[in-house]
Amino acid sequence: MTTATATRTAARVVDAVKVYGVGDTAVRALDGVSVAFPAGRFTAIMGPSGSGKSTLMHCAAGLDTLTSGTAHIGDTELGTLDDRRLTLLRRDRVGFVFQAFNLVPTLTVEENIRLPLDLAGERGERERIDALIDVVGLRDRLRHRPSELSGGQQQRVAVARAFAGRPDVVFADEPTGNLDSRSGGEVLGLLARTVRETGRTVVMVTHDPVAAAHADEVVFLADGRLVDRMESPTADRVLDRMKAFEVPS
Ligand SMILES: Nc1ncnc2c1ncn2[C@@H]1O[C@H](COP(=O)(O)OP(=O)(O)O)[C@@H](O)[C@H]1O
Ligand SMILES: [Mg+2]
Repeated sequence: MTTATATRTAARVVDAVKVYGVGDTAVRALDGVSVAFPAGRFTAIMGPSGSGKSTLMHCAAGLDTLTSGTAHIGDTELGTLDDRRLTLLRRDRVGFVFQAFNLVPTLTVEENIRLPLDLAGERGERERIDALIDVVGLRDRLRHRPSELSGGQQQRVAVARAFAGRPDVVFADEPTGNLDSRSGGEVLGLLARTVRETGRTVVMVTHDPVAAAHADEVVFLADGRLVDRMESPTADRVLDRMKAFEVPS
């Protein structure tokens, strides 16, 4: 990348506040977060359990709405969209990978991967999807159902599906949370490689320093606030930074 290349923002939130519930039981899950996720990069959102990571991801991705502040995918402010347009935006411009894989059990591997394309009425693109199938290493499993695959293989299907529709941004919430460390490492390597090779954007929520170290940059949340950012993270540096949050007050 040259210095003349302007950094585009794939997604961002500005002054994001999210309050769950009302009155005495209200929880301020996001307490004024502003953060931009650059296009073509792999960003990890890191923080202790309950720090607001999933809430930030859900609001940035249009799965939930902010109490105040704004969320944007590219130049589109999500708060200006009605339900139908929001649904279309999530379908056409956003990919998701969840901890629980969320594949369609009755469909084969190949059908699951093609699902975003078929739903969007977009056919063809055989070559690109073929390449994606090879990237995730599932060529010999295309006719299997999800229940016939290991957890790591299922998550690799989910990663391929998330990228299949060529989204502006893929959001992943603890994508290795249900995997052993070896399969988890494969999925993380796959996410990082796909960003590098296709120039797509990934935003991943994790509480695991080893997972965060696969990202280009880590943003740290604590108590619903953005408290730090780290370029070119290593697991040791992320772990050190996390320990600093846990000093008893
Ligand atoms: N649907 C909900 N209703 C009420 N409180 C919630 C809800 N979702 C999350 N919270 C609370 O908001 C805070 C942040 O949660 P979350 O975003 O899930 O954190 P993280 O993903 O970092 O573990 C926590 O205190 C959590 O209990
Ligand atoms: Mg979470």
